[in-house]
Amino acid sequence: MTVLDDRSFETYREASMPVLETERLILRAPRLEDVKAIAALANDRRIAENTRRIPHPYTVADAEQFVRGVNAGGGEMALVITLADGTLIGSCGLGLLDGAVPEIGYWLGVPYWGKGFATEAVRAVIDYAFAELNHHALQAGARVTNPASRRILEKCGFQWTGVGLCRIRAIASSAPIDMFRLDRGLWASLKSWREVRRVA
Ligand SMILES: CC(C)(COP(=O)(O)OP(=O)(O)OC[C@H]1O[C@@H](n2cnc3c(N)ncnc32)[C@H](O)[C@@H]1OP(=O)(O)O)[C@@H](O)C(=O)NCCC(=O)NCCS
Repeated sequence: MTVLDDRSFETYREASMPVLETERLILRAPRLEDVKAIAALANDRRIAENTRRIPHPYTVADAEQFVRGVNAGGGEMALVITLADGTLIGSCGLGLLDGAVPEIGYWLGVPYWGKGFATEAVRAVIDYAFAELNHHALQAGARVTNPASRRILEKCGFQWTGVGLCRIRAIASSAPIDMFRLDRGLWASLKSWREVRRVA
């Protein structure tokens, strides 16, 4: 048996992950060389308090643990989001919490908010989840105090299914969240409609 060093292991794991390209963005597997950039962006209370699992403060060690631990199989997937020039701006992925419907999650560094980047990245992961992973539905949650996230989900076709309570690590407590779901059939019809509009 050969024990893989860090670089070989990373290369091996990255080979099994997709690279998604959008008009302005590239989504790819996180690498050890990304940890400083991830920590610098994610170490912001406005991000941690709106995600389930990101701690605050968020250190380089947290980022390293994230990079080493993700994409190890089991149906979960995390990609970093970069601009075309390689600048890392955030992350987007699929998690498995309870049951068979994967949950989409995402965050962007604050300097990159308000430019439509999150919507663009989320659309790419949704398309990948349905077209390549063959999921039949996706779910998502947004804190009731997070209208930007709610708007992204609505723009991507997610339907509101109710309000629930969700444990937020950074506040060491639970908070109300709006819950959403997107079924494969709705995704397919929205996608064909988008494509017809692009051709027209
Ligand atoms: C939520 C987040 C990803 C948004 O990123 P972004 O790149 O700014 O999002 P986009 O620009 O693609 O879209 C945001 C939409 O929300 C709207 N929006 C932003 N702030 C808003 C507010 N206070 N009230 C209502 N709508 C708002 C924007 O106008 C935009 O909609 P539009 O395209 O129709 O104009 C980013 O703020 C973030 O990382 N927040 C912390 C982590 C987080 O909340 N993650 C989501 C977990 S569910």
